Amino acid sequence: MSATLIRNVHLATMADSAATANGAGYGELRDAALLVRDGRIAWLGRADALTGEIAAGVAEEIDGEGGWLTPGLIDCHTHLVFGGDRSHEFELRLEGASYEEIARAGGGIRSTVAATRAAGEDALFAAARGRLARLEAEGVTRVEIKSGYGLDFDSERRMLRVARRLGAAGGAAVHTTYLAAHALPPEYQGRQDDYVAACIAWLGILHGEGLIDAVDAFCENIAFSPAQVERLFDAAGALGLPVKLHAEQLSDQGGAGLVARRRGLSADHLEWLDADGIAAMAAAGTVAVMLPVAFYYLRETRLPPIDALRAAGVAMAVATDCNPGTAPCTSALLALNMACTLFRLTPAEALAGMTCHAARALGVQDQAGTLEVGKRADLALWRIGRPAELCYWLGAAPLAGRWVGGVKMA
Ligand code: NIG
Ligand code: FE
Repeated sequence: MSATLIRNVHLATMADSAATANGAGYGELRDAALLVRDGRIAWLGRADALTGEIAAGVAEEIDGEGGWLTPGLIDCHTHLVFGGDRSHEFELRLEGASYEEIARAGGGIRSTVAATRAAGEDALFAAARGRLARLEAEGVTRVEIKSGYGLDFDSERRMLRVARRLGAAGGAAVHTTYLAAHALPPEYQGRQDDYVAACIAWLGILHGEGLIDAVDAFCENIAFSPAQVERLFDAAGALGLPVKLHAEQLSDQGGAGLVARRRGLSADHLEWLDADGIAAMAAAGTVAVMLPVAFYYLRETRLPPIDALRAAGVAMAVATDCNPGTAPCTSALLALNMACTLFRLTPAEALAGMTCHAARALGVQDQAGTLEVGKRADLALWRIGRPAELCYWLGAAPLAGRWVGGVKMA
């Protein structure tokens, strides 16, 4: 029975925000302490309520030096594993080319596919490990990682294996998502339905290998149609796998309604989301994942319908979308800042979006995302005076400590 007591801290439990889809608070508990036993939160409360009985068997005491303890941050939408980079396309976009034009000319996702296919497993792992380390340095303790830059069986499998290896390395919990339906690979040009059939066949095999936690697709006029996504989701449902969707990023395809009708975990992006999609998400409890870095990077002008989502009680998560094309970002705190500055979330909503609502978007709200007794001790300790500072500073490096499953990380 190993026990650690973290004292001299203020807690942002985020439990109020978790209780309702868009509760407004941090769940503040000032002058507090938190006890970790066997990897879980065993007790938390006001420091003056801490008794010798509660603290019995404490092997280690941490002085939080008056900082704030929050749930470890959860980045619920990333494409962290990829080969190469797309800085050249960044230059082209600055000269006026659009994301769609670059994609239609064979660049975009497809250029990352070529680089990813050419990279060996160890090279992909090393590059992704570096990116994950930067997220961890900003308090991330759990991350979702998608495939989708392989687009053939071996390369999709390699990406998912790398993601599993990143999880096994222990610095953060990793959820894997199968995103073979991300773009049409060149060898299937003109044969989109055949490619969807291949994605479905690979899904069964890779799921059998234990590599897949959820299934995603890019539902867009430059990617896959709603009918094709339905076929893929039928196969996911038959395997008992949860679904999520890149929906309404560049146009309104009705993707959010589609994934909500399947009781999907989340619909992500959502700049073109309409009222029907919002109603369907609210009815199903599907989380809206906000990706403000991609919005910024693509210099979009159409905002997701934040006020309507809020009014409908749809839980909003916030994620980096780390990927080489639209969000080359390994800063969780920058994504929080942009959720506030660009999307007008309050800092409390943004932090809920990277804790309790992100946990819901990964289906792990019973284990993670809030500071509550019984939850896994995934924690971040910050040198800040108020929780809103997590959204306020740029480049501040405020992390003072991080625990994953109760284990203190360096
Ligand atoms: O989440 N929207 C599609 N997928 C990624 C972009 C991938 C890329 O451009 O490489 C996204 O924005
Ligand atoms: Fe994405």
